[in-house]
Amino acid sequence: MPNIAIIGGQWGDEGKGKIVDLITPAFEIVARFNGGHNAGHTVIRGDRKLVLHLIPSGILHEGVLCVLGPGLVIDPAALEAEAKEVEALGIDVWANLVVSDRAHVLLPHHRALDLMSEERKGSARLGTTGRGIGPCYEDKAARRGMRIADVLIRERIDLRLAALREHFEALCRGYGVTRDIDWKKTADDLEAFGARIAPRVRDVSALLHDQMTEGYSVLFEGAQATLLDLDHGTYPFVTSSSAGIGGVVTGLGVPPQKIDGILGIVKAYTTRVGTGPLPTELQDEVGEALRERGGEYGATTGRPRRCGWFDAVVARYSARVNGFEGIALTKLDVLDPLEEIPVCVGYRYRNTRLDEIPADIAIYEECRPIYENMKGWKTMTGHAREWADLPVEARDYIRKIGDLVGVEVPLVSVGPDRDASVIDNRARTSSWLRA
Ligand code: GDP
Ligand code: IMO
Ligand code: MG
Repeated sequence: MPNIAIIGGQWGDEGKGKIVDLITPAFEIVARFNGGHNAGHTVIRGDRKLVLHLIPSGILHEGVLCVLGPGLVIDPAALEAEAKEVEALGIDVWANLVVSDRAHVLLPHHRALDLMSEERKGSARLGTTGRGIGPCYEDKAARRGMRIADVLIRERIDLRLAALREHFEALCRGYGVTRDIDWKKTADDLEAFGARIAPRVRDVSALLHDQMTEGYSVLFEGAQATLLDLDHGTYPFVTSSSAGIGGVVTGLGVPPQKIDGILGIVKAYTTRVGTGPLPTELQDEVGEALRERGGEYGATTGRPRRCGWFDAVVARYSARVNGFEGIALTKLDVLDPLEEIPVCVGYRYRNTRLDEIPADIAIYEECRPIYENMKGWKTMTGHAREWADLPVEARDYIRKIGDLVGVEVPLVSVGPDRDASVIDNRARTSSWLRA
């Protein structure tokens, strides 16, 4: 089987967790390459619901190796708490999970800095998840961060913490605030964590290289999404990691020619948590109805997600930036009751039409959607398992989206459960999805 990357095509929460869980049987390894516990990937099995933040969504499959790559920022307490939660389901997490020696360690002061920075920004705040993600990547880029390899040695922990503390306290002095961080306890906790995790620490690039040479297949699981990517997203309303396809290469140490296929995950409408432009946003009862039907509340923070119609400019942009060869279209069932479904095919900015996302965020804020209306199907689709089970108007809607984005749609999701999926066997990329 080929190695396939799963990339969010909008602003996150497209249903990546469900799709990864669904197609994991076709792979031996699932590897996360970016972000931290800001992600919330939901996996549903019957009446059991699991929200994964750091651990790859393949963890429920026995014998599948789950990998946390160098591109991640890992909060030790969050990782261990999540492992416990998964273990409660009878899964031997640590037998199947390895952690990169090069991943960065997210510390209590990162969280304090995240909250402080949001507070200081006031109405210009980003609406972060408050997990400390940005400040941890800042320390990484400033070359004073602590990595997993460091927590294995007590003297190294103390050395790194001293540098981080000095910088943190200088910032606090500059801001004229005080924040109590128990640095001694932090160091002790890290030492204990290091001792527990040591047997599971690996050189992930070398490991993946060896496994792929043996003929094993890897599913690269992206967190966040293209429009939240630090370089390609709606900057500054983005996260601090590479959520697009480039993140696979830098965040795992895997060369690009080892990525055999790229599947975008795209919701049948659009949502966003946090602040920043969202041209198709519906601030009325229609948006409210999408939120309720789609259960659009953050898997990590519980915040209500902002909802709007499908935005083809966004999805087409993501397809280009990442090289999507196919898209999995999720949450189609949420649109079931609608009479008519507008699809955004371009933007109007003052008197001009735009077909690309402008870099200038002030211009993007002013863009208004140009809609084409599609006919609704007004039938429940949750039971559909084959292309032929879908109502004709739903098939038209899926085809329209495929045409607008310029790629095929090998998979349509019609419910949160893994079974609620339609694989279109005529699509070339459908072969990626089956064991
Ligand atoms: P992720 O971050 O991309 O993994 O997505 P989240 O798990 O944060 O959000 C997706 C939400 O939609 C979760 O609550 C899923 O259980 C749910 N979901 C996924 N696919 C479908 C679908 O096709 N239909 C419906 N109704 N819900 C879905
Ligand atoms: P998954 O993987 C949706 C958003 C936050 C905020 C911005 C920056 O579940 O799709 P951060 O805490 O990362 O510094 O916040 O990014 N954000 C997400 N939105 N899904 C996610 O992950 C997100 N991870 C971060 O809401 O707007
Ligand atoms: Mg999510």
